[in-house]
Amino acid sequence: MNILIHLEIVVGAILMITNIIRYSNFIHSTQDVISSVSKKDMFWRRLAKILLIFFLMGYIFVGVCSKPDLMIAMILFWGSVFVAIVITLMSKLLETAKERSIDIAEVLVGVIDARDSNLDGHSRHVQNLTMLFYNYLPSSMKKKINPISLEYASLLHDVGKLGVPESILNKPEKLSDEEWKVMKTHPKVGVKILEPILTFDGISDWILYHHERIDGNGYYKIKGNDIPLASKIIAVCDTYSAITMRRSYKNPKTHEEAINILKSVAGSQLDEKLVAIFVNIPEKELMSCMPEKVKY
Ligand SMILES: [Fe+2]
Repeated sequence: MNILIHLEIVVGAILMITNIIRYSNFIHSTQDVISSVSKKDMFWRRLAKILLIFFLMGYIFVGVCSKPDLMIAMILFWGSVFVAIVITLMSKLLETAKERSIDIAEVLVGVIDARDSNLDGHSRHVQNLTMLFYNYLPSSMKKKINPISLEYASLLHDVGKLGVPESILNKPEKLSDEEWKVMKTHPKVGVKILEPILTFDGISDWILYHHERIDGNGYYKIKGNDIPLASKIIAVCDTYSAITMRRSYKNPKTHEEAINILKSVAGSQLDEKLVAIFVNIPEKELMSCMPEKVKY
C-alpha cells in the first residue's frame, strides 16, 4: 500500500511540474495581438502560476516530511490530472480564438483587395516582406516587437481603405487635393474598423502611423523616434511593395530601381537604419515575397 501511495505522489508531482511548464508556455503565448489580455487578467494568470508552484511544494512536503494516507495521495494525483485537463482546454480555446481572428483578418484583406484593383495582393505582399525583414533585424529591435502582432499590423495596415470610396481608390488619374484628403484618412479609419476587436489595441498605433515620415512631413506630422518602430518597419516594406507592384497608373519597377529609391529617401521619408538593413536582404528572398497571384 505504501508503494502505491508514494507512486501516486511521485507521478502527481511529475505531472504538476509538466503542468507548470505548460501553463508558463500558455501565458507566454498570450502576449501577442490576437490573444493579449488586460493587465488585470494577466495578474490573475500569474497568480494562478504561483499557486501551482505552491501546490507542487505541497507534494514535496507530503511525500517527504509526512506520512500520507491513500486518500491524500489520491487527492494530490487526481488534482494534477484535473489541472492538466484544464490547461489543455484553455490551450484549445486559445487556438480556436486565434483561428477565428485569422479568419476575420483574411476576410478583411479579401474585401480590401476586391474593392481596389490597385491593391490586389498588396497587403499580403507587405505582410510577407515585413516578416522577412523582421528576420534580418538585430535582436535589440526584435525584442521590442511581438512578431505575431507585427504580422497582423502589416497585413491590416491598409484596412482603412475600406472607408475610402472606390471612385478614389480606382481613379487612374492623379488625385485632386480633396480626394487626397479623403485618402489620407485611411489610417484613422483603419483604427476605427479594428477598434471593436479589443486585442487589436496593441497595434492600432502601428497602423495609424504607417504613413509617417522621419522628417515629420507624413500624414499626422509625427517624426523620428516618436513614430513606433513597427510603423517604420511597415513603411519600408509598404514603400518597396508600392514601387515593385503594378498599378493601373504605372508599371512595376525593378528590384534595383526600388532599392535606389529607398536609399534616396532614407533619413527623410524612411528610417535610415532600417533602410540600410532592408537593402542588404538578398534580392531572391525579397522577390519571393510577391504573392503567387500577382507574380509578373
Ligand atoms: Fe496605407
